[in-house]
Amino acid sequence: MNATATRPSSWRRKDFISIEELTVGEIEQVFAVTAAFKRTLGRTHKKLPALRGKTIVNLFFEPSTRTRVAFEMASKLLSADVISLDMASSSTTKGETLRDTAQNIQALNADMIVIRHTAAGSPAYLSKLLRVPVINAGDGAHEHPTQAMLDCFTLREKLGSLKGRRITILGDILFSRVARSNIWAMTKLGAEVTLVGPSTLVPHWFTEFGVTVSHDLRSALADAEAIMLLRIQHERQISSHFPSLGEYTSMFGLNRTRASWMHADAIIMHPGPINRGVEIDSDLADSDRSVILEQVTNGIAVRMAVLYLCAGGSPENIAESDERGSPRPD
Ligand code: CP
Repeated sequence: MNATATRPSSWRRKDFISIEELTVGEIEQVFAVTAAFKRTLGRTHKKLPALRGKTIVNLFFEPSTRTRVAFEMASKLLSADVISLDMASSSTTKGETLRDTAQNIQALNADMIVIRHTAAGSPAYLSKLLRVPVINAGDGAHEHPTQAMLDCFTLREKLGSLKGRRITILGDILFSRVARSNIWAMTKLGAEVTLVGPSTLVPHWFTEFGVTVSHDLRSALADAEAIMLLRIQHERQISSHFPSLGEYTSMFGLNRTRASWMHADAIIMHPGPINRGVEIDSDLADSDRSVILEQVTNGIAVRMAVLYLCAGGSPENIAESDERGSPRPD
């Protein structure tokens, strides 16, 4: 990385709550630091001292595999101590409020809190309440900002600049925080985004976000350079938005026939967890066109970058130390 040529100004955010509030410059800063950390992950000795002495507490009020493990791995790779509270056996089961839980975690000298919660807005609420950084790991159907960062980082690795790139997001947009964060990120980065799926899950009002809404799967697939699939978010749907999963699959599931409508070079993405045989057939999920597991791997470096920046690490230090081949940020 050429630190002098591309040196970004310092990161000023305490928290990482949403893509909506980020500037393009801030998104680029996260990408630059992610790229530097990703290079360090290729070394024999991957562990960096950047967050030594810090304690990061993960509060996952919803199930998670990828995000939780990636945040834990990122914390450990930066030499932080990490505690993942088991919410099922925490005092929230005795009626403790989110506010009290978070304030007690801070009083226990946590240096940073990573939170996933069913309630949209809870990370933003805590970020105003606490002096320690709060990182949003997904809040209801609102945002999943680190997921969008890793998705767009992967897209840039595959396509280069996203300016003018045609990206189709297929599936349950209405209830998807991943879709919302990606719409913000992709449009800020200049991509042309098309949302496609049944009209009940892809309502026309999404055009207000600067995207195209389509219910014509064939043309939405044929036009795209990247297809991002989303699963049906059963846990957030308050009423049935289509007759059955089988009906959804028959109309909008990505199968071999529909994949043949795609451009030969178009890539297939999915934030996970995938529902094989529902939104995507197994052979496509495992095909050469799929970058699903690369997305997951990039999630480590992205979370390292977000933790590092919100802990006060400077983009300049990681860029310069990466050039030296011996990262010693801060
Ligand atoms: N993509 C994603 O958020 O996956 P998890 O629910 O497993 O964290």
